[in-house]
Amino acid sequence: MGKTFLKWAGGKRWFVNREYQRFPEAYNRYIEPFLGGGAVYFYLEPHEAILSDINSELINTYIAVRDDIELVYRNLRKHARNHSREYFYQVRDRNTRTMATSAARMIYLNKSCFNGIYRVNKQGKFNVPYGTTEEIIFDHDNFVKISKVLHNAQILCQDFELTIDMAQEGDFIFCDPPYAVINEERRFVGYNADVFSWQDQIRLANALTRAKNRNVKIIMTNVAHANVRTLYENAEGFTFDTLQRQCFISGSSDGRKAYQELIVSANI
Ligand SMILES: C[S@@+](CC[C@H](N)C(=O)[O-])C[C@H]1O[C@@H](n2cnc3c(N)ncnc32)[C@H](O)[C@@H]1O
Repeated sequence: MGKTFLKWAGGKRWFVNREYQRFPEAYNRYIEPFLGGGAVYFYLEPHEAILSDINSELINTYIAVRDDIELVYRNLRKHARNHSREYFYQVRDRNTRTMATSAARMIYLNKSCFNGIYRVNKQGKFNVPYGTTEEIIFDHDNFVKISKVLHNAQILCQDFELTIDMAQEGDFIFCDPPYAVINEERRFVGYNADVFSWQDQIRLANALTRAKNRNVKIIMTNVAHANVRTLYENAEGFTFDTLQRQCFISGSSDGRKAYQELIVSANI
């Protein structure tokens, strides 16, 4: 089981630790249309995969780590040596020129920023403040291992619907979209400059229904809200489960809130 190399909002490490028995034992290709930090991919280390995300900086980083890890790592070591508050802001405000330097910049900022979260402003510029004075250490062996695991993957920057439509009978889709927000509470959903809309949730349910009908194995996670569940109940053949979770929300009295997570599966 490999480690992820990016910390990502909504990362599924907890799901891997708690719910690994849900994953199918056998499948052809592994398909993940909302890749983020890729916690499930690096846990499963499948022999063949399609990985995608709409975030082009993220996908560029994965491709550079797969195809040019030594150059990425050389740049990471330089960042680690120079690490300080001032240096962090210089790198944050700097434009990069090559795939490898962009990837190293993203990995360094992710490791050293406040809470290790990727967030951009309206202009698409990374805007998380400085987070740690501690020495930054990048584990070379883990990066080499990650690069090897990524050689099994086709890595694409595209909308989820295109990726789900690539799945064929016997493939396994793990689907972890930005969670639905249905006007009840403000939750952090802005992974990119654009927010995932209710219309996107409907598009997702329709794409997964088509994939289910092609006998693709599916696990999707989402927020356990009746409106989300209804989208999948309308199509026969999905099964449902809910999990109790705690999440951290600034502004609530103790910073925590309990919520339920919906797991929708098919053909498993
Ligand atoms: C909840 S995160 C996935 C987290 C991931 N499972 C992990 O373990 O880190 C959701 C991802 O969906 C991506 N995303 C948002 N809208 C998208 C779209 N229309 N098509 C594809 N990816 C999208 C975001 O860039 C983000 O990386």
